[in-house]
Amino acid sequence: MLNNQCSRSHSARTMLAVLMLGVSSAMAADKTGLEVVQQVCAACHATGKDGAPMIGDVGAWTQHAKQGLGKLAEHAISGLGNMPAHGGQPALSDLEISRAIAYMVSFGHAVDPTKPYASPRTINPEQLVQSHCLNCHGDGKAGAPRADDFAAWKPRLQVGVEALARSAVSGHKSMPARAGLNNLSDTDMRNAVIFMIVQSATAQAH
Ligand code: HEC
Ligand code: HEC
Repeated sequence: MLNNQCSRSHSARTMLAVLMLGVSSAMAADKTGLEVVQQVCAACHATGKDGAPMIGDVGAWTQHAKQGLGKLAEHAISGLGNMPAHGGQPALSDLEISRAIAYMVSFGHAVDPTKPYASPRTINPEQLVQSHCLNCHGDGKAGAPRADDFAAWKPRLQVGVEALARSAVSGHKSMPARAGLNNLSDTDMRNAVIFMIVQSATAQAH
């Protein structure tokens, strides 16, 4: 019994070390800028609906782009006025949003960036977990891995932290994309995932 306890907390510590190294794994293919624009952004930006800068309107985009592409990305991620967060599609990654912006700002000539322009941190991870994630991860609602149950996280961790963070962004089975909070960035989601897993491993080690 005692032995069992020991080896369990040892493996929790090993997993923590792995977490800190930031294991990454191959991601599902990201959409190109053109694909995102066609599938999502064009709904407003093709026609100028609600005052959206129109695709092809050099003057309007040049004006918006003056604040810097990073700021444009932050606004498109978190929402601005009549512009819904993530264009209303929370499963789009911050990278995909950045590519779509590059496409619209450069009138289709932009090479896809390999990194998002911005993935702002908008909220403290502990606060986000407490105020939102624990609604399901507190008591394991609908099969959510509990925030104090490292054993439930361990098999999921085999794909790596980055893949789990990505899965929290895009949604997984009964977990909605971005846990239903469209205005959170990829960074917010990733920090919250790491916070919960570290918390579960710490609970286990005690
Ligand atoms: C439901 C309509 C709608 C959709 C869909 C939409 N937008 Fe917008 N967008 C707007 C409106 C309206 C504005 C102008 C907001 C303002 O300036 O108050 C805007 C403004 C923007 C801006 C300028 C922000 C700034 O700081 O000046 C960017 C960048 C942008 N959208 C990107 C996107 C991207 C990328 C997509 C697709 C993923 C998208 N939008 C989808 C309505 C939309
Ligand atoms: C409405 C309920 C609900 C909320 C709120 C919620 N989750 Fe989940 N979450 C679930 C469920 C259910 C699962 C299990 C789905 C499955 O089997 O993969 C899950 C699974 C996950 C997974 C594992 C995904 C995988 O691929 O194995 C991660 C990571 C995760 N949630 C992160 C979060 C974070 C971070 C938050 C807060 C920002 C959050 N969740 C809020 C219900 C929720």
